[in-house]
Amino acid sequence: MEDKASSVREKRWSLQGTTALVTGGSKGIGHAIVQELAELGATVYTCSRNEAELTECLRQWEKSELCVIGSVCDVSSRSEREKLMEKVSLAFNGKLNILVNNAAMAIYKKANDSTVEDYTSIMATNFESPFHLCQLAYPFLKASGAGNIVNISSIAGLLGGDDLTLYSATKGAMNQMTRNLACEWAKDNIRTNCVAPGVTRTVMAEPL
Ligand SMILES: NC(=O)c1ccc[n+]([C@@H]2O[C@H](COP(=O)([O-])OP(=O)(O)OC[C@H]3O[C@@H](n4cnc5c(N)ncnc54)[C@H](OP(=O)(O)O)[C@@H]3O)[C@@H](O)[C@H]2O)c1
Repeated sequence: MEDKASSVREKRWSLQGTTALVTGGSKGIGHAIVQELAELGATVYTCSRNEAELTECLRQWEKSELCVIGSVCDVSSRSEREKLMEKVSLAFNGKLNILVNNAAMAIYKKANDSTVEDYTSIMATNFESPFHLCQLAYPFLKASGAGNIVNISSIAGLLGGDDLTLYSATKGAMNQMTRNLACEWAKDNIRTNCVAPGVTRTVMAEPL
């Protein structure tokens, strides 16, 4: 009886045969997401900027016999995002089941100390990138027949606080984008959700 129940549970949670793209998979929350999806049977594509760190992660995953591939990409660059999605489409034969928009940056500054450069870089990384990646992934998510977008937002996008005005604004925008895409793309069998973590012990959260 116990064996039957656990096999049903395993099947229900299995991602065997599915494909996923997770941005920022070399560290922190993104790394854990890649690992979990791959352990559940998905073939995962990931990216980050630091080539040495990414290569080491891919080596470790290969050693653990997990199906994870990846390449260097700075998601704040429009042309790099386009190249990334070409590679993903090629690797997955034009079908993507899961897009996890995880890569992001934080700026811990008072609003009056924030510069034009801060605004431009955080908007490009935390909002323009997930939006554009959703657009680029749309045909492949639709082609999979069962697409899922998971945007990694933050509790900072829901609550007020000190020193995080720009970061919080990008996550608030991501939350609203998620609601709209969930309505717009449901007809294509693409489910869109946000996860809003609280403070999590990663490199990003070190200043906290
Ligand atoms: N940690 C927290 O307390 C917390 C709380 C709420 C929400 N979150 C959210 O959770 C997500 C992950 O955060 P984390 O704490 O795990 O961050 P992290 O430890 O700083 O890791 C970020 C990952 O994204 C990559 N990355 C950063 N900028 C990139 C870019 N421009 N292009 C490509 N890859 C990039 C990093 O690798 P490279 O540096 O090599 O590019 C790394 O793999 C973010 O969306 C963050 O806003 C975190």
